[in-house]
Amino acid sequence: MIGKVITCKAAVAWKAKEPLSIETVEVAPPSKGEVRIKILATGVCHTDAYTLDGCDPEGIFPVILGHEGGGIVESVGEGVTSFQAGDHVIPLYIPQCYECKFCKNPKTNLCQKVRVTQGKGLMPDGTTRFTCNGQKLFHFMGCSTFSEYTVVAEISLCKVSSKAPLDKVCLLGCGISTGYGAALNTAKVEPGSTVAIWGLGGVGLAVAMGCRAAGAKRIIGVDINKDKFEQAKVFGVTEFLNPKDHERPIEQVLVEITDGGVDYSFECIGNVHCMRAALEACHKGWGVSVIIGVAGAGQEISTKPFQLVTGRTWKGTAFGGWKSRDSVPKLVEDYMSKKLMVDEFVTFEMPLEKINEAFHVMHEGRSLRTVIKM
Ligand code: APR
Ligand code: ZN
Repeated sequence: MIGKVITCKAAVAWKAKEPLSIETVEVAPPSKGEVRIKILATGVCHTDAYTLDGCDPEGIFPVILGHEGGGIVESVGEGVTSFQAGDHVIPLYIPQCYECKFCKNPKTNLCQKVRVTQGKGLMPDGTTRFTCNGQKLFHFMGCSTFSEYTVVAEISLCKVSSKAPLDKVCLLGCGISTGYGAALNTAKVEPGSTVAIWGLGGVGLAVAMGCRAAGAKRIIGVDINKDKFEQAKVFGVTEFLNPKDHERPIEQVLVEITDGGVDYSFECIGNVHCMRAALEACHKGWGVSVIIGVAGAGQEISTKPFQLVTGRTWKGTAFGGWKSRDSVPKLVEDYMSKKLMVDEFVTFEMPLEKINEAFHVMHEGRSLRTVIKM
């Protein structure tokens, strides 16, 4: 099908707050610097739901959502040198161009090369590759993995081992890498540390896995759903706190049971009150709190400045600080050599036709991750 339009199935979001609808779509060939991929599997993430619910100020419809995918290169556009047909790949919603000032700075992973067009749901040349019934469909986060075929920029893609199961390692395209990297790259947790994690969903459990890998001694999970506790042990959580079981604010309880506060805390919910509690549960003089959860549009955080004056640090991270094209293939290798868990995050597998059910179980808090198999 090189150079030809491909007709295939995709889950289309026609409007905010409406279920996705399975449609036959046309996927144009990749233009210069682009790659067309056959998607084999994709995770469903809160960011997809956030956009579908109309919460994302950048959200544009109609759109093909999805950004946690794995697939095989079908064809490449003009000038593409780093991929060829048959390569196993993971799309990357934060690209790595190696040229912009962000890519050249070791302190950040936030490549800005295609930021403006990606935010508008367009390919870097300002157009789209998807149509349905003659209507243009927008791209999402530079990935659009809820489609049997998609087109992404060469800089928004990495090649991974062909031995790795794509229906598992697709999850390294977002949630797992984000949490794991927040512990290792952003917080830089040290051996012997005491940490607290707000929210024991997929992201929070990936943080726990990173803290355990870094040698943390106490990993305290904070969640209002007690059903999350048993499963969390598998990922390294050693103690549990349910804010509902305590009269006092949970940060006070933490300060008391940790002799002054935790060395590191992580917010993996997207709740601005939990963000404040996570900061204030940190130890005076050195405690570091990392924000990972995405709060609703327009929400603001607050605390007393004295919290920072007395030596606590407030940080945030996107995609766990990983420089994407350099790091995701290595994370896949680490999974293959059993250094990091991925299989354990898969709660359900479903065909594309059942994708609305995947959103449903996520909203009900019943899934860490659902993998859609095409
Ligand atoms: N206090 C403590 N725990 C809470 C609270 C609260 N006020 N509110 C929710 N939780 C718990 C839920 O019970 C759930 O176990 O937080 C957890 C969130 O997990 P998931 O919904 O599975 O979300 P996850 O996929 O881990 O993503 C977490 O990161 O991707 C960002 O902003 C996005 O909301 C998302 C967050
Ligand atoms: Zn860049």
